[in-house]
Amino acid sequence: VAVRAEAGAGGGINPAIRKEEDKVVDTVLTGELAKPLTAYCRYGQLLTGFPLSLCWRSGTFPLCDGTHVKHNKATGDNVGPLLVKK
Ligand code: FES
Repeated sequence: VAVRAEAGAGGGINPAIRKEEDKVVDTVLTGELAKPLTAYCRYGQLLTGFPLSLCWRSGTFPLCDGTHVKHNKATGDNVGPLLVKK
């Protein structure tokens, strides 16, 4: 799996999200409490099961806020959200 990483501080993927935390972890509720469709800013292979694709640029992380569109236009990249349907 090829991983294209844009360096954050120290060469990481995450440019600015919750840097005060040792590890950024989010929990997704499923079942009765889940919304019909939710877009998550993508953060890796563990959730998607597909080749690693990372954005980490959402101002509402872990939810996607569309920032990936600006990133894609600026860099020629093709990242997008993980859509979770109920
Ligand atoms: Fe990261 Fe949309 S802002 S996937």
